[in-house]
Amino acid sequence: MARVSNNMSTETKSAAPKNITSYLQEHRVFKPSKEFSAQAHVKSFAHYKKLWNESVKHPERFWGRTAKQELVWFKPFGKVLQWREPFAKWFVGGKLNVSANCLDRWLGTPTANKAALIWEGEPATDGKPGEERVLTYRQLHREVCRFANVLKRNGIRKGDRVIIYLPMVPEAAIAMLACTRIGAVHSVIFGGFSAQSVADRIQDSGAKMVITADGGYRRGAVVPLKKNVDDALLIKDANGHSLTKTIEKVVVLRRCGNEVHIAEGRDVWWHRELEYVDANCPAEKMDSEANLFILYTSGSTGKPKGILHTTAGYLLGAKLTSKYVFDLRDDDVYWCTADVGWVTGHSYIVYGPLANGATALMYEGAPNWPEPDRFWRIIEKYGVTILYTAPTAIRAFMKWGDQWPKKHNLASLRLLGTVGEPINPEAWMWYHRVIGGGRCPIVDTWWQTETGSIMITPLPGATPTKPGTATLPFFGIHPEVVDDQGNAVPKGSGGKLVVRQPWPSMLRGLWGDPQRYKEVYWSEVKGSYFTGDGCRQDEDGYFWIVGRIDDVLNVAGHRIGTSEVESALVSHPSVAEAAVVGRPDELKGQALVCFVTLKTGQHATPELKVELRNHVGKEIGPVAKPDDVRFAEMLPKTRSGKIMRRLLKQIASGVEIKGDTTTLEDFSVLAKLASDE
Ligand code: WT7
Repeated sequence: MARVSNNMSTETKSAAPKNITSYLQEHRVFKPSKEFSAQAHVKSFAHYKKLWNESVKHPERFWGRTAKQELVWFKPFGKVLQWREPFAKWFVGGKLNVSANCLDRWLGTPTANKAALIWEGEPATDGKPGEERVLTYRQLHREVCRFANVLKRNGIRKGDRVIIYLPMVPEAAIAMLACTRIGAVHSVIFGGFSAQSVADRIQDSGAKMVITADGGYRRGAVVPLKKNVDDALLIKDANGHSLTKTIEKVVVLRRCGNEVHIAEGRDVWWHRELEYVDANCPAEKMDSEANLFILYTSGSTGKPKGILHTTAGYLLGAKLTSKYVFDLRDDDVYWCTADVGWVTGHSYIVYGPLANGATALMYEGAPNWPEPDRFWRIIEKYGVTILYTAPTAIRAFMKWGDQWPKKHNLASLRLLGTVGEPINPEAWMWYHRVIGGGRCPIVDTWWQTETGSIMITPLPGATPTKPGTATLPFFGIHPEVVDDQGNAVPKGSGGKLVVRQPWPSMLRGLWGDPQRYKEVYWSEVKGSYFTGDGCRQDEDGYFWIVGRIDDVLNVAGHRIGTSEVESALVSHPSVAEAAVVGRPDELKGQALVCFVTLKTGQHATPELKVELRNHVGKEIGPVAKPDDVRFAEMLPKTRSGKIMRRLLKQIASGVEIKGDTTTLEDFSVLAKLASDE
């Protein structure tokens, strides 16, 4: 296969031991089928390369042209980019509106009566199937206009911050789009977060309003969202000052019918407010760089960061990547299983698909409620053609067993996607075979809350894929792998993943903290955006993410990425999931400690521990042989499904758990892990 030329090997200067050594080699290559390529937006690898080369050689020309083609403008922009590192302004002087680009533009076209959102509710505890709702573009437009008028009626103006704390119901998308319609800045908080997290985010954003629901369903129980908001609004800091004094109004959606407290003058019901408004709400003409939303990262370390995205650049990134990466066609039923509380839900349930006039499915509940075949049932029922989910979910499906997907007809699927973590080749192959029936391309998409849209990814009709790599950059994106001095490392060596040029959907800062923005992203490697990820490129230039730089293991002078050892463990037939961390070791610097969960029906025996050590030794080499293998029932994860290695490090070293655990999904996991010495 030909390489993508990117002068990577011309400036190699790095000293080998400083770099991350890569041991795992994957040789399977999957070319897109002729049939898939024939109908795809980008039909050949040669065409992708040509377009990519042009796009990074003349990024302003490329982005200027696509911004004109893809977006609807009230007023055209002048300069494409004004770059004063690290602050970017894209499409300077232009005026547009995000909700108009997602909705109004389809009115008066055949798309107006097409399903914009297909929503499936969680099944009831008595076995009744979940509710269904379908909103056409015309209906969604009307609901957004009406709710935008509710926002105005309750004092929300351009630039005001609005917290959205809702379950996965269509009103979450309606509330987001209504904010964009009037130029309010939304900050969606995942419904699984606590009162304290809500209070912290209100305080940091200075929000004027919270939009919530009485409750949300989760595995048959009611999550008391409004009660959490009430509690949040009472929280005070150490000096007795309220954290949430900026809040003037709380809008409450009736979802579960559970009893809630309504504070007169502050709290209003969504459905009652609708009685006072009409459906006429012209879209505000927003500046290209107007603040669009703040999203607090569910990072596995430290204080949450308020990632700030702005209007035109973000929308262009979300739209263009949705179109090319998911290869959207008019007849697709596209399903992204993320929650709208994460950036994936923002870009790939709401803004990207709607800006393309696509049909997006939204599901309220969990993948294993009431049974582990929930996803496959939904795919069969609606004829889903594109499925976008996370490696953590795929590994859970593998663990639950093939019988669940096998019960359903998944023939409608034509394309699969993953995001969130490196996908281990084993899980990739299972996804390909069992879910994709061997016929669907897989797009492994690398990106971040900060990047706003997909950055490294195959194009499904063009890029040959290999299990475990996100492959090559999207148009206009110029990533490189560099050493500690910022010089590109040779192919095959590991290093830090950076992005060399600004791109339209990049974050514009951290809310209220420009200094931290500079330090975190623009100080590590001069002149480049630092992703925080470790990476290597293979002979074909494909990018292999090896884990977060902070998690890189250092064993006897060898630096090894966590994901390689984890992939090796998961390739053993007994293992469902694995997390690897370092423990200080006098001799080796770090000893390798592996936490392993087993597939259903497998037994944790001392013999298996020995077998797993040898298996890793065989797959990667003796240097990566774990010093300690520990079996666990579950691994500690963030609510978005990322393993919290920081906590596992502390457990492995036998120290007390310190630091922020508010993003931890299940606290009982920690106690179990610590007691399982
Ligand atoms: C981090 C960003 C972006 C949406 C969801 C997560 C890891 C993400 C991949 C992938 C390997 C990946 C990286 C990245 N990551 N996608 N396809 N392959 N690693 O957003 O919470 O901002 O996390 O997730 O480490 O930096 P996020």
